[in-house]
Amino acid sequence: MKIQSEAIVRPARNISGSVELPGDKSISHRYAMLAGIAEGPSSLENYSTGADCASTLGCMRALGVAWERKAEGQNTIEVQGRGLSLGAPTDPLDCGNSGSTMRMLSGIVSGQHFTSEMMGDESLSRRPMERVIKPLSAMGAQIDSQQGKPPLRITGGSLKPIDYKMPVASAQVKSCLMFAGLFADGESRIEEPLRTRDHGEVALRAFGVKLDRKSAGPGSEVRIRGGQRLHGLETRIPGDISSAAFFLCAAAIFPGSQLVIPNLLMNPTRARLLDILMQMGLRISVTQLDEIHGELVGSLQVEGGKLKGIAIAGADSAALIDEIPVLAAIAPFTEQGIEVRDAKELRVKESDRIAAVATNLRLMGAQVEEREDGLEIPGGQTLHGAELDSFSDHRIAMAFAVAALRAEGETLIRGAESAAISYPAFFNTLEELSER
Ligand code: S3P
Repeated sequence: MKIQSEAIVRPARNISGSVELPGDKSISHRYAMLAGIAEGPSSLENYSTGADCASTLGCMRALGVAWERKAEGQNTIEVQGRGLSLGAPTDPLDCGNSGSTMRMLSGIVSGQHFTSEMMGDESLSRRPMERVIKPLSAMGAQIDSQQGKPPLRITGGSLKPIDYKMPVASAQVKSCLMFAGLFADGESRIEEPLRTRDHGEVALRAFGVKLDRKSAGPGSEVRIRGGQRLHGLETRIPGDISSAAFFLCAAAIFPGSQLVIPNLLMNPTRARLLDILMQMGLRISVTQLDEIHGELVGSLQVEGGKLKGIAIAGADSAALIDEIPVLAAIAPFTEQGIEVRDAKELRVKESDRIAAVATNLRLMGAQVEEREDGLEIPGGQTLHGAELDSFSDHRIAMAFAVAALRAEGETLIRGAESAAISYPAFFNTLEELSER
């Protein structure tokens, strides 16, 4: 049984201090999977502390990959890769709450000569999987599902290459198909309609895979040949920018904030949030830019200011998909408000994030217009403390902890334990950074 916990967030005066983030969730998943199918050992320092990335490691172990933590309490994972051929699991692969685990790993198990079952929790069981089932089936995998939803039963084998234009902009699907492409007999081409995060491409290259990439209209295309062997990787994972988003937005709502964030992921396909917050009035300077195996890392110095409103639409909505909940949660504190369009994908995340944001903002007394593909939230509003629900969604729990800092009175967040899906230390760290 899941143990539910509540968090109480009191209003703050400012955000001040320095915070270094655990390793990026998107990169941690991909490195753990690729390390498992590499030849030889890998060492992944600053691996994500989130439960989602632990789900990926659990699945890799069930597929016969040996790994261990370097030392108790440390976030360095040492993986013994076993090459492209994994071991048949004896039990269903438990993906927990993690859509990334199920979607990306389905590409790898589709290339294995055995049957795997993949299951998840209640939220994951509601999420659409036809976006991977359709192309993987076209490559030759046999997949049974519950009308396109988990659990999945995948019988893999030698795959045919695919030439595929993805109908939805999804980095998880893109990575799934590139991973499956490693097991195909020939070259696969995968095209995305809008540019999404490119950690799959960057990680494959870091593990020694050759692939061709180019832009294709507003999106991009990747070509990858099957049968390539991966070598192990020794690296350090940059801090998670989607987790940093909560502290950046918390700093943004107080003009006197001062925040330092060292070793943060600055990959251009993830860093749109920084441009948007700067356009809104936050002062951000970046120092010590560095590149680690193709991923950009930098240190941020952040100062609050007056916060203007903004409209987020089109390619920005895809680029900011994980950060929109917290941007929307602070929208009432901006001068002109925030409008979000073209973000229908938010309805099929860990919760229906459009509905969850609208419900919680209204409970705090805000005026909100909810639309099928977004939200319109006027600025210049005052919020009051309220009793809110996380909807069992980590990003909703954290987004409203941030909004609560500038509300009048205390806010209670039910299901606050969900934060541990991506960032177990979140509530403690937020408390440490909040000046009262
Ligand atoms: C992710 C991609 C996004 C994002 C998710 C992680 C990834 O999902 O919402 O949290 O690591 O590729 P989609 O690619 O399905 O939009």
